[in-house]
Amino acid sequence: VDVETLLNLDEIEEAATKQISRKAWAYYYSAGDDLISKVLNNSVYRKILLRPRIFIDCTKCDPSTSFIGHDVKLPFYVSPAAMARLAHPDGEWGIAQSCAQYGAMQIISQNASMTPEQIVADAKEGQVFGWQLYVQTERAKSEAMLARMKKLPAVKFICLTLDAPVPGKREEDERSKNVGSILPLRSAVQGDGSTSKMSTGTQTPPQKAMGVGQSLFWGTAADLTWKTTLPWLSQHTDLPIVLKGIQTHEDAHLASLHAPQVKAVILSNHGGRALDTAPPAVHTLLEIRKYCPEVFDRIEVWVDGGIKRGTDVIKALCLGARGVGIGRPALYGLGAGGKEGVARVLKILKAETETCMRLLGVETVDQLGMQHINARAVERD
Ligand code: FNR
Repeated sequence: VDVETLLNLDEIEEAATKQISRKAWAYYYSAGDDLISKVLNNSVYRKILLRPRIFIDCTKCDPSTSFIGHDVKLPFYVSPAAMARLAHPDGEWGIAQSCAQYGAMQIISQNASMTPEQIVADAKEGQVFGWQLYVQTERAKSEAMLARMKKLPAVKFICLTLDAPVPGKREEDERSKNVGSILPLRSAVQGDGSTSKMSTGTQTPPQKAMGVGQSLFWGTAADLTWKTTLPWLSQHTDLPIVLKGIQTHEDAHLASLHAPQVKAVILSNHGGRALDTAPPAVHTLLEIRKYCPEVFDRIEVWVDGGIKRGTDVIKALCLGARGVGIGRPALYGLGAGGKEGVARVLKILKAETETCMRLLGVETVDQLGMQHINARAVERD
């Protein structure tokens, strides 16, 4: 398929769905239980109305911003997502190439299908990456990965994911467990002998007996706490920490008390893949605005889940988010056309975001605020 003919992110998903394996599709598409959080993630943005101002010169438009002190060209970024090579051999390296083209940030999943060294190998000057960690039961494995990050200057922070200490129940992924195999694709932390020095030891699960999600969770620690995990982490990295998977104002507040070690939180329900009926980021943003708005001054607040349009990006920014992540759209872009497909996703979302800014009457993202939206239909929920 010629990706240039695809006009929006839904069309890219449709094209990818036709091209990728049944197993890859099931893994990417799947979410917890009845997919209620996954569906709500997107539909919630549709209930928020925009309030465009007129008679404003909109010849100039600059969507650039910065994330925890690093300049980026776009207010949206690529969320950490495992196993990109299930979609296309370009994999996470291909995503990095497209991000370089558009000046977008990328967070590398610990369960990426290529090593972090391979992914950042051709990084451009000024390109910004984060590396996402699931703390392992065998802490030494995580410590070894953190040590590797010290040698990768393009990696600017550690993103600690906290919303999935145990895997959610993803039935579509389970259903396809016997359809093909993800071997030899293995994540960097599990190791495959050739791309990583990590040994699989006795932790390697019987890959065929479970869905991709279940098999990747093998070895993930379930005993993380505010008290013990952040001190442990600071012993093994000097990089700033971003906490991913915050779903309540209470936890956003607690996270903000850990500034400046914690520099940002990502409000996320893991694309609906962990606890079904957990709230979309929009609800958590509204809670923070109501109960602890000082969080926005202490740390940066990023969000992800269900972003499909430039208007979705802008609405999240209006509610106080500084960064907006896309998970599945980047994977579907890869599936539709490798790195060119990801570039197409970024190009479409950039153009839509700019059009939205212009039609609202703003020139830069820091001008966006609650005055540009009517979120009353969501505030009532
Ligand atoms: C994810 N996500 C994820 N998050 C994370 O912290 N580490 C990971 O390894 C993964 N892996 C992963 C795989 C796949 C296939 C998906 C779809 C998602 C969650 C991801 O970072 C993000 O929170 C959601 O994908 C955002 O929702 P959308 O954009 O997919 O709707």
